[in-house]
Amino acid sequence: MNFKNIISIQDLDLEHINLLIDIAQSIDINYSSTELLKKKILLFFLEPSTRTKLSFEIAAKNLSAETINFDTDSSSFKKGETILDTVRTLKHMGIDLIIVRNKQENTANDISNLIDIPLINAGDGINQHPTQALLDFLTIKETFKDFSNLRVTICGDISHSRVAKSNIDLFNKFNIPIAICAPEQFIPIGLENLKRFSNIDDASKNSNLIISLRVQKERINSNIEDIVNSYKSYQIRKEHLDKNPDLFIMHPGPVNYGLEIEEGLWSHKRVLIDKQVSNGVRMRMAILKTLLYK
Ligand code: CP
Repeated sequence: MNFKNIISIQDLDLEHINLLIDIAQSIDINYSSTELLKKKILLFFLEPSTRTKLSFEIAAKNLSAETINFDTDSSSFKKGETILDTVRTLKHMGIDLIIVRNKQENTANDISNLIDIPLINAGDGINQHPTQALLDFLTIKETFKDFSNLRVTICGDISHSRVAKSNIDLFNKFNIPIAICAPEQFIPIGLENLKRFSNIDDASKNSNLIISLRVQKERINSNIEDIVNSYKSYQIRKEHLDKNPDLFIMHPGPVNYGLEIEEGLWSHKRVLIDKQVSNGVRMRMAILKTLLYK
């Protein structure tokens, strides 16, 4: 199957998604091979990341690829060189694949017009984070065998979340209904038709999966103190898991424990955050194998 880039979930068809899920399910986190020996992968991260960057790096090394970390602080960015001029330069250095993250929307798309090697969007502003959606879908598939019973609610700062947008695109492709639960200021235009819960008590009673999202304090300009102080009606607590034995919780991380999710809840057996992190390595190996192994 021939697809070169992963820039947006919208660009992938069901065949692509199912192929990536099948490959990820066929390997475990300790998979090791020489499939990508001598391939050079550029980690072009212009915005902070722990999970995405390191899981791509581990995935690449598991497949014997070499990784090159672009360091903004020691680069000619400091002399004013632009992102696109930097990419025009880097493409002549024999790199086989670029993974890019930037705070500006559409960066990956703009770069894809300049290069003819595979490109992966590791998050562009509030637009898309397709590989997170794919690893989330792998986690859901391995937790819920039957999608027909899935009742998903996305809860939290949806308007600033590229993860929410990518997940909603993916759920739509599989006709999985979604509800939302968020303060008014965190609901973006365009989601008016989705079922809506006004508090976490109602959402937890009526869902078997809640995808909680980080309150992105760095992207919020005003009244953050008011939001934090009034967030109790959206916070997932142990009582919600106790009262609803079918309920599972996911969160892409990093989590503001004590805000979106009660302190200490990460270790609950129906909180899947650690599983999502491990699945990040598996899914990213599947992606690198698919885009690079010929
Ligand atoms: N989920 C996610 O993108 O986390 P990082 O910002 O740590 O990569």
